[in-house]
Amino acid sequence: MTLLSQLQQALEPILAPYLEQAAQLGVKVPHTWVSEAADKRFGDYQCNIAMILAKPLKQSPRDLGQSIMDELNATSMSGLAELSLAGPGFINFSVTRQSWEQQLSVVAADEYLGVEQAVDPKTIVVDFSAPNVAKPMHVGHIRSTIIGESLSRIASYLGHNVIKDNHIGDWGTQFGMILYAWKLELNESALEQDPIKELLRLYQKYSLLCKEDEVVLAACKEELVKLQQGDTDNLAIWKRCLELSKQGLNQIYDRLDVSFDYWLGESFYNDELPATVELLVDKGLARQSEGAMAVFSSGEKKDEQDCFRINKDGVWQDNPMLIQKSDGAYNYATTDLATLFYRDEQWSPDEIWYVVDSRQSLHFKQLFEIAQRLDFKPKLKHIAFGTILGQDKKPFKTRSGETPQLASVLDESVERAGQVIADKNPGLQGQQRDEVAEMVGIGAVKFTELSQHRLTDYIFSWDKMLALQGDTAPYLQYSVVRIESIFRKLDAEYDAQAVIQLNEEAEIRLGSILCQFAERLPQVLDDHRPNLLALYLLDLAKAFHSFFEACPVLKSDGETQASRLALCALTQKVLNQGLELLSIKAPKRM
Ligand code: ARG
Repeated sequence: MTLLSQLQQALEPILAPYLEQAAQLGVKVPHTWVSEAADKRFGDYQCNIAMILAKPLKQSPRDLGQSIMDELNATSMSGLAELSLAGPGFINFSVTRQSWEQQLSVVAADEYLGVEQAVDPKTIVVDFSAPNVAKPMHVGHIRSTIIGESLSRIASYLGHNVIKDNHIGDWGTQFGMILYAWKLELNESALEQDPIKELLRLYQKYSLLCKEDEVVLAACKEELVKLQQGDTDNLAIWKRCLELSKQGLNQIYDRLDVSFDYWLGESFYNDELPATVELLVDKGLARQSEGAMAVFSSGEKKDEQDCFRINKDGVWQDNPMLIQKSDGAYNYATTDLATLFYRDEQWSPDEIWYVVDSRQSLHFKQLFEIAQRLDFKPKLKHIAFGTILGQDKKPFKTRSGETPQLASVLDESVERAGQVIADKNPGLQGQQRDEVAEMVGIGAVKFTELSQHRLTDYIFSWDKMLALQGDTAPYLQYSVVRIESIFRKLDAEYDAQAVIQLNEEAEIRLGSILCQFAERLPQVLDDHRPNLLALYLLDLAKAFHSFFEACPVLKSDGETQASRLALCALTQKVLNQGLELLSIKAPKRM
């Protein structure tokens, strides 16, 4: 059990009578009372329950804090930490050196590094990446891909059953253009050489033409309708496009070390769409409107809180979710509804997470409300994220003004990483250097993404993300390399499970952070924020470097050396595990 949980548990019987009294008075009582201290100068953990309960219980917060503290001091748990009362009634806990040491031995011996496995494991479908086939997978998709992969790994590590589903856009209007263009001017040999490039050429050329020329637009639409009606030629071309695109995507996913359990794209739900609309009509949720079929407000919410209402020029109007157009065609919303029904039936998940751009938030609000009206069991969550910006604070573009393609961003990052490594370690050559450059370059892109709060728009900067000294992947990777080199230089057996003694200030700091991996990791899932793990790893790496400067390892001996080596080994383990959960690889040298 983590120290945080131990403190929490020790307080439970003491707080029970107070909490009960407060609850009887109708006060909402919190479920957790202890948290990591905001300011480590006064303690490692803190509890502010006295301040919450004092008023309803008509006591002074300081007196209440004092009596809670006295009661705790009288229990056997008092050896865990020294208690002090601060300010208007904060209880501060300074964990004793012995408790940290004791906890470290637990962490070092545990397969999950002290992380408690979910008592009530959930089945979670994670819908992420989901690029649109035959369109470029652009740098915006990187956010979904990287955040989704990391959240999936973390949820699995915490003991949940995760199903990763790549809901690719493989049935959209882009196929009308591709089909039309394919028949007119496909370059077979270009397609053989680089399929994605050729498909992209066709798509880009004809999506422009469609904007300029209504005749082309109509022709493309016609191809799409033929495809949707099952025309054999069009279906064959579509299938080939799909295969080629999947191969191209898989190359990127391999490079990113991202994988899926399923690739159930939009086309998979095609046959279910008419029944989906019928069901919504039967349940009274959808009705006809101007020839189309749509879901309207239930009228139960205030306009301001109703996602099926919108204020236009000061007037509230309907803002329905369209599920079938007047020409009979189904759309993104219909498919997402069908997808929801399928997932529920197939996997009975407890939760479904949609890792999708925040610009789609209205779509998901409406989808989730429909699910609620249908009494759907799974908890649905839109894990939204912001935009990647260029130096000019506008959406990130290449010099020629296009949205950069993911593959070329990765190539450039790897190339730049290669230069950084060449400067730092000219001895590293050839294939070895290339491998390290790949890990550092890809790691840098991923860490830049994962260390941001997902909802913030961030500025893409090569220099910042590849800096060896900074809040970057290379800094973390370098920390792993530094520990590797200690063991290489040691050139002797050592005991990773040796008793760890925390004598120096820097050792206590490092030891305490190692214990807190198990406390911080579960918090990632509270609000789906992998950046909490990223920030934790930076704290850990910084504490390691301070330790390494203050406490000689190779030049020490006896028990001190054994203890410090064990501390290094555990740091290595936690860093590697944390990086793996962020899907970042660490080299042995760099
Ligand atoms: N293909 C969509 C896009 O690129 C994302 C799909 C997300 N998943 C979903 N179930 N709607 O915008």
